[in-house]
Amino acid sequence: MLSLGLVAVATATLIFCAGASPIKRDAAKGPLALVIQNNTPSSNVSVYFTARDPNGGDVFLGSNGQWTSTCAGRSGSGMQPIPATLIAYRLKQAGSVTPITLPRGMVSGRMYTSINGLDFFTVDGCGLVQPYFQDQGSANYVKNWGFLEFTLTQTDLWVNPTSIDFVGLAHGFVVETPKGNMTTMGMAHGAVQTVCDRMHNITKQTGDLAWSSLCLSSNGIPVRVVGPEHHDDPKALASYWQSYVDAVWTKYRNQPLHVDTQGASGIVDCQVRGDIMFCDNEQFAKPNSSDIWGCASGTFANAGSGKHIALAARISAAFHRGTLLLDGGDKQPFKNADLFYSDKTVNHYAKAVHDVVSDGRLYAFPYDDVNAYAVDASGTISSGDVTRLFIGVGGPVH
Ligand SMILES: *[C@@H]1O[C@H](CO)[C@@H](O)[C@H](O)[C@H]1NC(C)=O
Ligand SMILES: *[C@@H]1O[C@H](CO)[C@@H](O)[C@H](O)[C@H]1NC(C)=O
Ligand SMILES: *[C@@H]1O[C@H](CO)[C@@H](O)[C@H](O)[C@H]1NC(C)=O
Ligand SMILES: *[C@@H]1O[C@H](CO)[C@@H](O)[C@H](O)[C@H]1NC(C)=O
Repeated sequence: MLSLGLVAVATATLIFCAGASPIKRDAAKGPLALVIQNNTPSSNVSVYFTARDPNGGDVFLGSNGQWTSTCAGRSGSGMQPIPATLIAYRLKQAGSVTPITLPRGMVSGRMYTSINGLDFFTVDGCGLVQPYFQDQGSANYVKNWGFLEFTLTQTDLWVNPTSIDFVGLAHGFVVETPKGNMTTMGMAHGAVQTVCDRMHNITKQTGDLAWSSLCLSSNGIPVRVVGPEHHDDPKALASYWQSYVDAVWTKYRNQPLHVDTQGASGIVDCQVRGDIMFCDNEQFAKPNSSDIWGCASGTFANAGSGKHIALAARISAAFHRGTLLLDGGDKQPFKNADLFYSDKTVNHYAKAVHDVVSDGRLYAFPYDDVNAYAVDASGTISSGDVTRLFIGVGGPVH
């Protein structure tokens, strides 16, 4: 899950030495230099940066190049637009490069990118409203847009691409450090069409219309593919996992499921008794399909002990990847990434997302950062040593 921000905040930059005043571990770093490539065919691409400041307040990168509180200059209730003149950064023409500098000290950041602009609003004063991607009444609905996630503390950068909510405008990036480059490819321009085609194919194979209807079109042209959690019809896919869950519960009634928490709790043995999966002192009821799609409700709620959360992350990742009934599925996280999504009951959307990315790395469900060992499926890169961040909008950095 995207807990990187919390980790970042917890990384203190001060070291206290006995008898001395606090000293800085790292010299203050300057703003981060972004080099943004416009890899779309459009010369009308805008980018927008939003984040939370250290006090949890919503901010955006203002036209003065500074993080600006969404509260500034606002009063009253209801939805109010943030003027494009304050929040929009226009990229140079197709094929060219635009430099932007990003001041440090923010968490839970997003860099939104859009062809032909995107509307931003606040609600009831300062609350930032993320752009809608499902509401057909919103001007943003028909736009081609997407976002990257980042946290930029005084010392460190975390950045990841995401398709958890939807596949839209593509991004790749390169984190440049004195030791070399680290790259996340991201999707190619036009990947929306490919992912849509795959969803239509899944519908043909399974007869389940829900998959093809994840594809949203405007005037017959696919604009985005939404994740199963966001299906327009809450009833679609609502029982998708039920027989798989039953089979998992039956299997692990007869044998233990070993879950490596990859942390202080070590390997925990789980087993079903009655209708509950017991993992030492932690318990998991049978998840329903929405608990699995969102990885955040019911038995998979992001609550309880650190051990419970670590187990929930790994068990729900195993559902999405369909590895619990495979040979060797009794050891999670499952090691052989080649067999992810090989069962017939899997998150077909996540499979399609991973298949169309040339390096296979991109968040396609909330716990896609659960990895067996050195493998990373999420595309996240972090560094305390970044010199420049190259971003390709509409396709990989080249
Ligand atoms: C370019 O984008 C802006 C919003 O950023 C929009 O108002 C304008 O109509 C667009 N121009 C064209 C030619 O589509
Ligand atoms: C890192 O990537 C950038 C962008 O592609 C490139 O300009 C730079 O030369 C690369 N540096 C190294 C050491 O490969
Ligand atoms: C969809 O299925 C057809 C027929 O099996 C196949 O030719 C095509 O490549 C598939 N498309 C995608 C995007 O997987
Ligand atoms: C699934 O369970 C959650 C809580 O555990 C509940 O909020 C949700 O309504 C249930 N969904 C369905 C489709 O039953």
